[in-house]
Amino acid sequence: MGRTLKFNIFRFNPEDPASVPHMDAYYLEETEAMTLFIALNRIREEQDPTVMFDFMCRAGICGSCAMMINGRPDLACHTKTKKLPNEITLMPMPVFKLIGDLSVDTGTWFRGMNEKVQSWVHTDKPFKPNEEEARMDNALAEEIYELERCIECGCCVAACGKANMLPDGFMGATAFNRVARFMMDPRDERSNDEYFEVVGNEDGIFGCLGLLGCEDMCPKKIPLQDQLGMLRRKMGFSQVKHLFQRAEKR
Ligand code: SF4
Ligand code: SF4
Ligand code: FES
Repeated sequence: MGRTLKFNIFRFNPEDPASVPHMDAYYLEETEAMTLFIALNRIREEQDPTVMFDFMCRAGICGSCAMMINGRPDLACHTKTKKLPNEITLMPMPVFKLIGDLSVDTGTWFRGMNEKVQSWVHTDKPFKPNEEEARMDNALAEEIYELERCIECGCCVAACGKANMLPDGFMGATAFNRVARFMMDPRDERSNDEYFEVVGNEDGIFGCLGLLGCEDMCPKKIPLQDQLGMLRRKMGFSQVKHLFQRAEKR
């Protein structure tokens, strides 16, 4: 006989003036290999069609199903209920704008972050559409790919104390990961000083508290700690250089 699971689900529709934030309880018989994706869909199909949550790929690739699962941010589609206790509390991720119940708008936040860190290859070379693709060393391409695996789920942002304090300001580990990715890319012609202009501030790398909740919560195991360390070293050096240059001008 399988377990009966109790799901406490946060309910609130900010679009409905009559809606008040509260928790609703639902009960389900656990089945073999049940994931939270399966459980939530069963709740919606069999018990309450109004429960809001997001899913796309069901395979840990699209990043849309992240939510707080018993207080920890994670992907609902790759979370098996057998790893959880009988009572499961699901909340929307903090920091991001609430759409309704468990659904949050990560897209607007990530677009803003990508614009802030200028998340594209900067080069003055003219684009020649008929030219052969530029070759890249295999090992370097692998290193860049490692950082490109970020699925923009937002778990590292939801877990970050500083991002919770400054939801519209602090860039978060995912932004530092983007910057590190372009610093590695030989096609990007930005200097360290130009990167410093982007992340060398309190909303960026100097505002990071360094406690690494971000890396612990990343479902894709992106090596965020390494990127934070590397950026701190490089941007710290640029900061000292800026201070000396300012002192010389006085
Ligand atoms: S180490 Fe920095 S980015 Fe990571 S959770 Fe802490 S404050 Fe946020
Ligand atoms: S770095 Fe990890 S936790 Fe953060 S958005 Fe990317 S995949 Fe999600
Ligand atoms: S549904 Fe795409 S990552 Fe979970």
